Amino acid sequence: MGSTHDTSVQTVVLGITGCIAAYKACELTRALMREGIRVKAVMTEAATHFVGPLTLRTLTDQPVAVSLWDDPGSSPVHHISLAEEADVFVIAPATANVIAKLAQGRADDILTTTALATEATLVIAPAMNTHMWRAEATRANLQTLRDRGAVIVEPESGELACGDVGEGRLAPLEDIMDAVRYELSRSLDLSDRHVLVTAGPTYEPIDPVRFIGNASSGKTGYAIAEECARRGARVTLVSGPTALSDPFEVDTVRVTTALEMQAAVRRAFGDADAVIATAAVSDFRPEVFSSDKVKKGEAPDSVRLVRNPDILEGLGEDKIDTVLIGFAAETQDVEQYARLKLESKNLDLVVANDVSVPGLGFGGDMNKVILVDRHGTRELPTASKRVIARSIADELSRLLCERDIRL
Ligand code: C5P
Repeated sequence: MGSTHDTSVQTVVLGITGCIAAYKACELTRALMREGIRVKAVMTEAATHFVGPLTLRTLTDQPVAVSLWDDPGSSPVHHISLAEEADVFVIAPATANVIAKLAQGRADDILTTTALATEATLVIAPAMNTHMWRAEATRANLQTLRDRGAVIVEPESGELACGDVGEGRLAPLEDIMDAVRYELSRSLDLSDRHVLVTAGPTYEPIDPVRFIGNASSGKTGYAIAEECARRGARVTLVSGPTALSDPFEVDTVRVTTALEMQAAVRRAFGDADAVIATAAVSDFRPEVFSSDKVKKGEAPDSVRLVRNPDILEGLGEDKIDTVLIGFAAETQDVEQYARLKLESKNLDLVVANDVSVPGLGFGGDMNKVILVDRHGTRELPTASKRVIARSIADELSRLLCERDIRL
């Protein structure tokens, strides 16, 4: 999460890499500081050939990190403390080499090590020769980083240091500042909120080894829980069985059945400001549970099912001012069914997706959703579940503000 030492001042960790545009990082530093932002610079070794660390040390009035072997000062593990202090991690200018290292998750210098360790959003402003910018490898690396939630501030066209004219010049300072301001504004926009997220499938046991379940991976719900926590919320995640590990800084409650999920949700609902129900709750459960394994030869011809409670619908009936966000996985008339759900379950927003589209939705990392609320319908572009989680947290933040105004 964001800076822990003095939360009244926001911190940008500014990564500077080795290219001719490195001198522009000094101007960026001044612009950030003029807005009351604390800047901590971290430089690659190559960057120090273009700008002296002393310049940044003087401008920022903070120590400048240039090596993994720096004198650590007050912190024994410098790159980790820097990573934790960042509300936003800006890399400007970012070379093709550092972009490639970030995409691979390499951590062989102070900058890439800190970037790998941070939970803050990465704002990357590339600067390089046109051919390097257009290279397939660079395109693929940037897409990987975008899918993981990084914000890329695209370079502009113009005269380059090598004499070429084309795309690759570091974006104008104001574009980088806009991206940083926007990311800082949402870095803590869910502070003091309690958000309850349900995720994953439920398993409804037939006997000790068999169950009725579904293919939900839980990835969307976990990504949302993590995003809300990163933005300052206290998050309770009630999760059915998944292969995912507990998200950072999230109170994760593991359950198996729909009835267990309902009980856990009810316990946390009382002081929740919002519920985001991504769980694919089994609509049915076997009427009887056999405490002994049913032998192959003794299998019944049929298993009688009874309905499970609709957890979200129950919350919709009881809610006073809790923001409720539901999900709808449909195979046809997606928007129409989503709107029906919005009304019948008394929700504030429905996130709907067409699960008949191959490669999207269940299990995978990518999704395409539409957002349906009282005001209308909005289609989001196909994106990683992580990026979609960010848009949903934006919607949540907006809905909570609307609620506060009503109250
Ligand atoms: O009606 P449908 O099952 O399509 O509604 C989906 C939405 O309702 C999801 O947000 C899901 O998490 C929630 N739900 C629930 N309890 C159920 C069934 C669905 O909370 N038993």
